[in-house]
Amino acid sequence: MTSTPNSLFRHYLDSLIQRGTTRASLTEEARDVLRTWYVTAKKGSRAHSPSSPSPRPEPQPTKTPPPSTNPELFPEERKPSSSITLPEGTMEDKLQYLRDLAQNWKPARDLNSLRDTMVFATGNPHTQLMLIGEAPGYYEEVQREPFVGRAGEKLNQILKAMGLSRDMVYISNIVKFRPSLPNQRTNNRAPTPEEIEACLPIIMHEIQVIQPKMIIALGGTAAVGLLGEQGSVSSMRGRFHDLNGIPVRVTYHPSYLLRSDNPREKRKVWEDMLAVMERMGMPVSEKQRGYFLPRE
Ligand code: URA
Repeated sequence: MTSTPNSLFRHYLDSLIQRGTTRASLTEEARDVLRTWYVTAKKGSRAHSPSSPSPRPEPQPTKTPPPSTNPELFPEERKPSSSITLPEGTMEDKLQYLRDLAQNWKPARDLNSLRDTMVFATGNPHTQLMLIGEAPGYYEEVQREPFVGRAGEKLNQILKAMGLSRDMVYISNIVKFRPSLPNQRTNNRAPTPEEIEACLPIIMHEIQVIQPKMIIALGGTAAVGLLGEQGSVSSMRGRFHDLNGIPVRVTYHPSYLLRSDNPREKRKVWEDMLAVMERMGMPVSEKQRGYFLPRE
């Protein structure tokens, strides 16, 4: 029998259970890896299941037509299965259409695993920079606005360090409803791959409307969902990915920085932001360059 990371991990968990362990805590990195395995396993099982709905195929960059000859934002292989026809009109008209559509978005509602309040997006649609997180949590649901809780405060700090504010960028989530839990109060959970896939057409069309010059994927859920690539944040960050001509920078979710006070982790996120600023031609001061570097 071949030992895959997956089977080794299962074996390790079995050995913990046999020793009487009933709880295990996971780092953000480990959660990313598990999510990726889960998504990969799901893809594999769907490929073998004739009754399953049309799977999202792997991206095939060589087939991607150049943007100038393709008015559509997404190449065939990244096009979500559900078709959405945007209305004619202004950017605001199109976003309002998507917002209304998202409210009763059947693929998401049919799952019965997401709460009812739809949280769409915030910020300036006429921006060059779009930031995408995973899903609303308790505070976002109450205020119907992405990133207004503690992770939002951290995101605001990051934007401020970049010389930006929330109303200069467009902030959205890959999943538009707070994932539900039994007896849920303020506790949140990450969306499942099914929930991500169900909501994907909405965020993809938001990108199509906004046409940003740059996307920042905040955390593994957004990164894996948007790019259809496998990997943890640490393996995907540190370079630019391509979403049909739009550079995508993957970085740690702001909530990761809330859990880890380590300046080295802060510096990693900051280096991603510096790269974004440079690529976008934003001014970068010497002071900004030095943020979160270890003191001599
Ligand atoms: N985390 C997210 O990914 N999105 C939010 O809107 C809030 C917290």
